[in-house]
Amino acid sequence: MEMIHAAVVGVGFIGKQHIEAIHRIPNTKVVAVVETDFIRAQETAADYGIPHAFDNISDLLKLDGLDVVHICTPNHLHYPMAKEVIMAKKNVFCEKPLALNTSQTQELVELVDTYKVKSAVNHNYRSNVMVREMRARILRGDIGKPLLGQGQYIQDWLMFDTDYDWHFDPEKVGPSRSVADIGSHLFDLVQFVYNEKIVSVFAKLITVYPTRKQREQFGETFSLEYGEEVTEVPVENEDAAFIIAKLESGIHVSMDVSQVTGGHKNDLRLVVSGSKASLTWCQERADILQVGKRDEGNEIVYADSKYVDPSVRRLISLPNGHAVGWADGLKNSILDFYSDLRGDVEKDQIGYPTIADGHNLMKLVEACLESNENNRWVDIKE
Ligand SMILES: NC(=O)c1ccc[n+]([C@@H]2O[C@H](COP(=O)([O-])OP(=O)(O)OC[C@H]3O[C@@H](n4cnc5c(N)ncnc54)[C@H](O)[C@@H]3O)[C@@H](O)[C@H]2O)c1
Repeated sequence: MEMIHAAVVGVGFIGKQHIEAIHRIPNTKVVAVVETDFIRAQETAADYGIPHAFDNISDLLKLDGLDVVHICTPNHLHYPMAKEVIMAKKNVFCEKPLALNTSQTQELVELVDTYKVKSAVNHNYRSNVMVREMRARILRGDIGKPLLGQGQYIQDWLMFDTDYDWHFDPEKVGPSRSVADIGSHLFDLVQFVYNEKIVSVFAKLITVYPTRKQREQFGETFSLEYGEEVTEVPVENEDAAFIIAKLESGIHVSMDVSQVTGGHKNDLRLVVSGSKASLTWCQERADILQVGKRDEGNEIVYADSKYVDPSVRRLISLPNGHAVGWADGLKNSILDFYSDLRGDVEKDQIGYPTIADGHNLMKLVEACLESNENNRWVDIKE
């Protein structure tokens, strides 16, 4: 496959990021966008020089020559849209979380198999150069025997009780909010860098405001434009969670998740402790990996071809000092999938999460809900 022809469904916050990321990858073309708000679809298409705009996915799927459809709509639409795309025999790149529950994710796993398409779920953080480097160093044994780990994903965009949007509606996000929304990224990161599955979890979920003040919100996620009228609404899903996970080898990793922690914007970080050294990666300083040592000075490793494992070099587009960040991780996430569609990169260098991984992550979300409900450890079923 030479040129890849892509479509993006849902052009709110993340949809536009997908368009920009695809445009950075050679031999790709975004040929269509889909938005219920058709004016926004047309404006976005015009802004980015995209030839087609639709207001529904069924019309998009009649378009000839489509190679991949990116689903960037709210969570409840991932399952029906992914199903329609797969059954039209198109490759699918779906935003996270993959769906609302494991019966939906299980069905998508089976459909991908039946219709023989390729699938990805956008747990983009594992495609950051220094996350790949972290994994390579752990697998090479550089830090000795992994002993334990600490992860956190904390944000503040839902910190006030006046913060309210579709993420609070269980019909749109399912029974979990913060664990499904950002905890799932942390689960993926942990399983990816350790190259091990989580086999058991203990979780405490926390809702800090039993009710919130809903105001009409205009625009996409993180938009600050609101209407005047305020309605008090009960909150059914969690703002935060404390989770302990056990990996296959018996290692324990603690994970803090919060969307109400002031000043922490998109603070995703992971510390892996080994018998010789530790490794720390922070999303907000994505261009460096810290090697923590006890008896000598700590080391800072920059995202530069000179310092990283050969398997990681293809994801580096800038020399050190030209800091890479969130947008580069997203670009690499899509690049990895497209490289697999083209078959132009060695399989062992490709590491994007598939719909099967999305299904596994949804099992972990459900296990956290069950653990919280019953106040006990919950094993992950095969
Ligand atoms: N991977 C990441 O780091 C990351 C970051 C942010 C959001 N997300 C995920 O992306 C998804 C979208 O989140 P967002 O923040 O961009 O939301 P958003 O509200 O900003 O955008 C969603 C867009 O989808 C459109 N839409 C709704 N129904 C539609 C339909 N039937 N057909 C076509 N378009 C439709 C909306 O009009 C809106 O423009 C969520 O599932 C979220 O979890 C992922």
